[in-house]
Amino acid sequence: MSVHQSSNIKRITTHTLQEMKGRGEKISMLTAYDFSMAGIVDGAGIDIILVGDSASNVMAGHETTLPITMDQMIYHATSVVRAVKRAFVVVDIPFGSYQGNSSEALRSAIRIMKESGAHAVKVEGGSEIKESITRILSAGVPVMGHLGLTPQSIYKFGTYTVRAKEEEEANKLIADAKILEEAGCFAIVLEKIPAKLAKQVAETVSIPVIGIGAGGDVDGQVLVVHDMLGITQEFKPRFLRQYADLRTTMTEAVQNYITDVKAKDFPNESESY
Ligand code: KIV
Repeated sequence: MSVHQSSNIKRITTHTLQEMKGRGEKISMLTAYDFSMAGIVDGAGIDIILVGDSASNVMAGHETTLPITMDQMIYHATSVVRAVKRAFVVVDIPFGSYQGNSSEALRSAIRIMKESGAHAVKVEGGSEIKESITRILSAGVPVMGHLGLTPQSIYKFGTYTVRAKEEEEANKLIADAKILEEAGCFAIVLEKIPAKLAKQVAETVSIPVIGIGAGGDVDGQVLVVHDMLGITQEFKPRFLRQYADLRTTMTEAVQNYITDVKAKDFPNESESY
């Protein structure tokens, strides 16, 4: 019996993503946290699925991304990986599992890769976590960086407003992007920064730059899937384009079901044994 699965679907790799940047083809990326959603997103043809620590907000109802644990991230990632046939799957290393020291960072990355079967990890920050990134990469684990508004540092920032509007922070962000590139990251997410600065970063580094609230002059875009499908409702930042109103659709479906049950209309004869 062969251990290799036969499939005609060509998987996305870090190499594919680099080639896409090279030929100017935009990279599409969305989050997913469970088997069913990952199957829909992958089947639709997304390039990268991020098992984001935003699961802490949209799946668990926490106010920030800080409380989610390594075990919970691995549970979400494992469910996503089971559904995915084509997309490149990246998993956020949760808060407190890589910033302390590089050995802990390596241990965390290896746990995620081994236990979930994902393809890469994502970490937030620049020069401060360079050693951790280098250590993870030394084990052959691809690393995606994340600069700008980094939600794991929300209590340092104090607000979710646009980052790097001032020259000093913008210069640090550019320097950090170069550090991530030199360290060997395969891509960088830029969150909620001025479009002009994001463009400058995408032109400066040779690796793909994926934006969320960073304008159109970067190599790709990422959104939280529950936000773009209109499942979450209160979160409506300027950068969010809502492609569906699933909360209304789902609410109406549930209301119709309740009505049918109460009216003894469900189940009918053909729905019974
Ligand atoms: O956790 C997440 O969903 C993210 C995206 C916002 C990039 O990091």
